[in-house]
Amino acid sequence: MKKIIITIDGWSSCGKSTLAKQLAKALNYVYVDSGAMYRAITLYFLRNHVDWTDKKEVEKALKAISLEFNYNDKLQQSEIYLNGENVEYVIRDLVVAEKVSDVAAIKEVRDFAVAQQKKMGRHRGIVMDGRDIGTVVFPDAELKIFMTADNAVRVERRFKELYEKNPAITLDEVKTNLEMRDYIDSHRDVSPLRQADDARILDNTNLTEKEQFQKALKWAHQLKVPAA
Ligand code: DC
Repeated sequence: MKKIIITIDGWSSCGKSTLAKQLAKALNYVYVDSGAMYRAITLYFLRNHVDWTDKKEVEKALKAISLEFNYNDKLQQSEIYLNGENVEYVIRDLVVAEKVSDVAAIKEVRDFAVAQQKKMGRHRGIVMDGRDIGTVVFPDAELKIFMTADNAVRVERRFKELYEKNPAITLDEVKTNLEMRDYIDSHRDVSPLRQADDARILDNTNLTEKEQFQKALKWAHQLKVPAA
């Protein structure tokens, strides 16, 4: 059975993880949320007052960080663990979201995360989403998807998601954070967000979750990937 690597990159709040999870389930592949790794590192830096403008401090802190994904059978999803603690939910907080793009722009942080991501793909049969997965982590991936959607649609989607957890949040806060992250992610020196030359664009502004899933699954099947 030929197993492939599927990469999904794109702007924040484009629905990358929703699609990645659906594809991984349909193909019986492993799903890895690379953004969760940058978020968990950011959480560690914040909790431990790491000055991430200081290279030495960053290197020291990274040595104390162990990241792991464990599958939660009950919720049927993989969850990230930071030094043995399940942080899947705390890392979605706006406090982390506000700093994560700065932390993800640090070369040492990226080297640390990318090395682990590459290892996770060594047996193929993986769907990974992020910003540099098709360009840097798996440049040889068989299927590369670049997701995009109108800004207003993305803000609305993220707002709905965050509002459920925190009704005090405003649409403006979400919009500002999203625009800031998009800017930093696409303008940083190390591995900025960009579409791989051989990526297929998936604009889901006017697509339902089901429609986008069917489109991507068709692409996978065109590569002769057997169903699970
Ligand atoms: O996908 P996300 O919103 O959870 O990602 C959180 C942040 O991490 C985002 O601002 C960009 C960064 N990121 C990155 O630089 N490279 C990746 N492969 C994944 C995420």
